[in-house]
Amino acid sequence: MRAVTKLVSGWTFHTSFSSDLVATAEPGTAVRLPHNAVDLEMTYLDERSYQKEFGYQYALAWQPTWAGREVSLRFDGAMANSVVWVNGQQVAAHKDGYTPFSARLTGLLKEGDNLITVKIDGSENPEIPPFGGQIDYLTYAGIYRDVWLQVTDTVSIANLKVETANELSDTKSATVKGFLANPTQAAYTGSALVELCTAEGTVLHQQTVEVSGAEFSASFEALAGLSLWNIDSPVLYMARVTLNTSAGQDQLSTRFGFRTAHFTTEGFFLNGKHLKIRGLNRHQSYPYVGYAMGQRAQEKDADVMKDVLKCNLVRTSHYPQSTYFLDRCDEIGLLVFEEIPGWQHIGGQAWQDESVENVRRMVERDWNHPSIIIWGVRINESQDHHDFYTRTNAMARSLDSTRQTGGVRYIENSELLEDVYTVNDFCHVATPEWMKGIAPTPLRQPRQVTGLDHEVPYLITEFNGHMYPTKRIDPEDRQAEHVSRHLQVLNKAYENPVISGAIGWCMYDYNTHKDFGAGDRICHHGVMDIFREPKFAAWGYTSQCSPAEQVVLEPVTYWARGEKDRCEVLPLIVLTNCDYVELKVGDFLPKRAEPDRERYPHLPHAPVIFDSRHVNMSDLGAWGMLWRDATVTGFINGKAVSTVKLSGNPLPTTLQVQVDDTVLRADEKDATRVIVRTLDQVGRLLPFLDEVVQVEVTGAAQLLGPELLPLKGGTTGFWVETTGAVGDITVRVSTRRMGEQVLTLHAE
Ligand code: GAL
Repeated sequence: MRAVTKLVSGWTFHTSFSSDLVATAEPGTAVRLPHNAVDLEMTYLDERSYQKEFGYQYALAWQPTWAGREVSLRFDGAMANSVVWVNGQQVAAHKDGYTPFSARLTGLLKEGDNLITVKIDGSENPEIPPFGGQIDYLTYAGIYRDVWLQVTDTVSIANLKVETANELSDTKSATVKGFLANPTQAAYTGSALVELCTAEGTVLHQQTVEVSGAEFSASFEALAGLSLWNIDSPVLYMARVTLNTSAGQDQLSTRFGFRTAHFTTEGFFLNGKHLKIRGLNRHQSYPYVGYAMGQRAQEKDADVMKDVLKCNLVRTSHYPQSTYFLDRCDEIGLLVFEEIPGWQHIGGQAWQDESVENVRRMVERDWNHPSIIIWGVRINESQDHHDFYTRTNAMARSLDSTRQTGGVRYIENSELLEDVYTVNDFCHVATPEWMKGIAPTPLRQPRQVTGLDHEVPYLITEFNGHMYPTKRIDPEDRQAEHVSRHLQVLNKAYENPVISGAIGWCMYDYNTHKDFGAGDRICHHGVMDIFREPKFAAWGYTSQCSPAEQVVLEPVTYWARGEKDRCEVLPLIVLTNCDYVELKVGDFLPKRAEPDRERYPHLPHAPVIFDSRHVNMSDLGAWGMLWRDATVTGFINGKAVSTVKLSGNPLPTTLQVQVDDTVLRADEKDATRVIVRTLDQVGRLLPFLDEVVQVEVTGAAQLLGPELLPLKGGTTGFWVETTGAVGDITVRVSTRRMGEQVLTLHAE
């Protein structure tokens, strides 16, 4: 049987690499994994700081139980170019920062300590994807995912693949394929017990198959009483294989689900039912620590996408992301578009070979995730390349016949080698008054883009982003335009049945190179800020959910007399899924408005827009007159279901400090997020409050990032990370004008 241990602590980090490290343990900094080689400033950072070589060392103490067994290290992800030695001998080299790799230690270990040395080269090496051109994101160096010590018998299970069929029938089928690891090519005989279980492990069906070569397969037919995996009810099952051979025993399990997913010329169908895709792109980065965030933070992003943004799909732009993130997508019913590493640039032959390998590594790692519905097998936004993309498509199809391929481009008339024409459509440009009527449409028509005389499966993979970057601190007018642009594209995508859906750019702001962003090394492209705190545009997505799930009522306003031009508050957009909304200002009679179906006829829930059709500006008073409180009320079936108060006299009243989780793991590098909000008397953010937030974390955790944080748009955030100690964690947050809040968390 296998023994698998996560190697969290005990690592030594070296800020530079010298060949001495290969065979000699040198004093360095004690670190835990996942680890970021160079922590960065939030803004105006120097992205060259991590583009060099680093070293990690680990003393692996020999265990007598390993005698005669296979011992290896599995790296879930290290950026960008890794070499691993044991006792001075090279055992692995991996030229990709996003996929896992193993280092076989068998036969090279001695009694006592064994020196593991890992060289990580964080340079943007033009020989390996995605490098060679400029890229609009950072690839933070380090062993930024987990490392596992794996001990098995000579013959073990390397991987499992579950393929389902007849998913929509009452009697479903599943085939479980096993791939064996047999590094010494030992001769053996044996069998595998293959069990289909509930996610919790209750056995539902089982069979035993003979095992002789490198692979085996067990087919299950006429499986009754099983449920589908879908976004509302993501039922998972587990395939568990127990291997029993003359050269070793092993057990491995994987989760899977029964579902069908098809992109067609009539849109996307999940389990035979039409589903319009409404998604956002996600980078896997966090402030200061880059990619080095563990399970909890990864899972939280998936939860935010599903529960806060109410999206049904996430695109892992532009690389395979953490399996913790993907596992969570399986559990909560969030669809995934996963793609290989790359950004616009295609390198030479060796580079392309590595990229084709990346397709293989991605598919083999992730083929059992029911949430993944399409493989992205092009370098994001690259030009056509017949030979290269013929190979990437062939690789994906040969490994997985159950999923379609896509390849994200922005060019028109692109050669369609994939199953789905996936395109970034950034045609939506400014629509000033004088252009009304002649303004370009928010989206091009599929045939215009494909250049084909017939429809093909078609999906919008990005829109907005750099066409309208919007900072959290930007004025209300800009926030409103940001909202409108996201909604206009979504509306257009909903209109056209050929379009499977649209995936906006992007979920949250991210750090980037000097060649992109606002000069501060941030692309302010998110519908959320870098802390995953919603900007107004986020509510545009949220409000598309059914009110049965959540009633949404979010007026896009700072409600101030003089924030917008001409001291107007109109037009006032209210993002909502209510039937109608009333706006009551001071003692004036309430004004009622219905969802604006004229402008947004196709959205599930058009926003309500108060303008001169509903409100006489003089009712709100002119410049020089009294400014009043207001109330926005949403109604469903004639009943008031939600109310938002807007203060005409906002003053700093509440310092709100909200933590995602209060119980953390001490044995892992476990991190949780804290959001700080400064609120007025009625609970609205104070968007222009100039205050500095002082943070102090004591006890069994540390603060990630600086202790002094400026409020931006009335809010800021940070992550708290366990240190390995067990016990209480005290988080103190204060500002000069708003006093102090204290949270107590616990690491156990
Ligand atoms: C796209 C690109 C994304 C991001 C986006 C910004 O061209 O694929 O990675 O840079 O633009 O809008």
